[in-house]
Amino acid sequence: MSKTPMTLPRRLGLFFELPTLCIIIVTMVALSWPLVVALRGCQGWSLVELWKPPAESEQSTSSESTLKEIEAEESLGSAENSEAGEDAESRAVGVLRMSPGLSPTVHPGPEPWSRTQTVTSPSVTRRTAGPLGKPTALIHIGPPKTGTSYIQRVLMASRDKLLGMNIVYYVPPVEGRQKPAHHFLAQPTRDQAAMTAFQDKLSEAVAKGQHVIVSSEALSLVSPKLISSLKSLFSKFNIKVVLTYRPFLGRTWSAYKQHLSTNNPRVIGVSFAEYYGKASRSGTDGAGLCGYAASNYIQGFGRDSVFILDFLGAQKDGDIVNMLLSAVDLPTFEEPLERVHVVPGLTSDQAVYFQMWHLFGKYMFEHHHCILEMPPRQMLAYKVDAMVKHHTMPKKCLDMEPMKKYALKMDANFRAAFGDRMLHFRPDLSDNETTHFEICELDHQIVRMDWNDSFEKHAEALLSNSCQKQEKR
Ligand SMILES: *[C@@H]1O[C@H](CO)[C@@H](O)[C@H](O)[C@H]1NC(C)=O
Ligand SMILES: *[C@@H]1O[C@H](CO)[C@@H](O)[C@H](O)[C@H]1NC(C)=O
Repeated sequence: MSKTPMTLPRRLGLFFELPTLCIIIVTMVALSWPLVVALRGCQGWSLVELWKPPAESEQSTSSESTLKEIEAEESLGSAENSEAGEDAESRAVGVLRMSPGLSPTVHPGPEPWSRTQTVTSPSVTRRTAGPLGKPTALIHIGPPKTGTSYIQRVLMASRDKLLGMNIVYYVPPVEGRQKPAHHFLAQPTRDQAAMTAFQDKLSEAVAKGQHVIVSSEALSLVSPKLISSLKSLFSKFNIKVVLTYRPFLGRTWSAYKQHLSTNNPRVIGVSFAEYYGKASRSGTDGAGLCGYAASNYIQGFGRDSVFILDFLGAQKDGDIVNMLLSAVDLPTFEEPLERVHVVPGLTSDQAVYFQMWHLFGKYMFEHHHCILEMPPRQMLAYKVDAMVKHHTMPKKCLDMEPMKKYALKMDANFRAAFGDRMLHFRPDLSDNETTHFEICELDHQIVRMDWNDSFEKHAEALLSNSCQKQEKR
């Protein structure tokens, strides 16, 4: 054999062999959003208790550094944090198995919140006159892609400081693991040990007159029934719910990249242009999700108890953690805040590598009936680069105009419905972000048409155990 054909297979083989990847990919496959999809339609609550694992990431199209800092990969699927996501993922597997009918098909329909009253005034009632003497319970519900990972880690790292401010941020270990967030509260069947420990802590806080904070982006997806259960759980507190609204286009792009990096079936072999088409029909990855959460929590706790942070405006005004605290009149931290490590989301360039990987994986599945092991996130670009150089991959810059038009409309709808509850309200910043958005991605059309021969060559170079055979059904 000549030297050249040896090199590529070797390099590939080396990567593909990593045995731990096997475990990672199995858990990742689970990570999906079929659940969110089930949320569509105002009355379509039936499936909403299936919760979506946390997800958060970053987009690099915008050059704002503050954005980069707080937008972070929400740990799921990334090798560095695979531990944090495991429960969530395995639960998601369970959900998938139990609900074969759940598919990523979207159900077109009106936005769940579009029938709510239209209030355009941007003025905000910041002070909610709670019953005298009750401490505050700040329930931060995300949604995903709005800096939740960063917020949770800062709060966790600042527990002692918070206690000094008369605020408890207590997260019981769930199944032996300590996590910075309260995802267990969003699960229909709650971890009993964690719940008991948590309830004890709540009683203690009430007795001492301490405020409490809980945070989980999964709470943005729960059903009204589960929201009622939160009401009784925190009945001794003056409940204040905070969610963050992020412009539709930026959020959808960010969600897409997050799904790419976590091997979410919804995006495998699907370009952003195609994904956006679906998201815009369903609204699930953008304003629809925020609207769903906002209207449910308003219904559950009353309009005055729900506070909506404008993502870009809040960051302009300071650290998002402090903006969260001040939204409900809790004391804020002196800057600088604790430094926390958050895994940055994919850049646009990295996204292209992931797209190529997934198309190759799809090819392997369809032509060789096997599931390709996904390398750890930080290795993937390197690995794909060993196969295909970035500059040789066909790329396509999207026609943004229809996307922008739709996104601007979604954002305007959200403001019309909930503008009176928004803090740091800066529609100009949101619209400007959307107006300036540019996205270039892998040209899926060309790869689908012209790359099969090339994929076949790479397939031959794979080690036999790097693509797990599927049994015939
Ligand atoms: C290449 O493979 C993909 C994925 O299996 C398939 O959908 C597509 O039709 C193939 N393209 C051609 C031109 O054969
Ligand atoms: C609008 O967005 C662009 C691109 O993100 C940015 O360079 C510009 O400074 C923004 N303008 C305003 C007024 O925020």
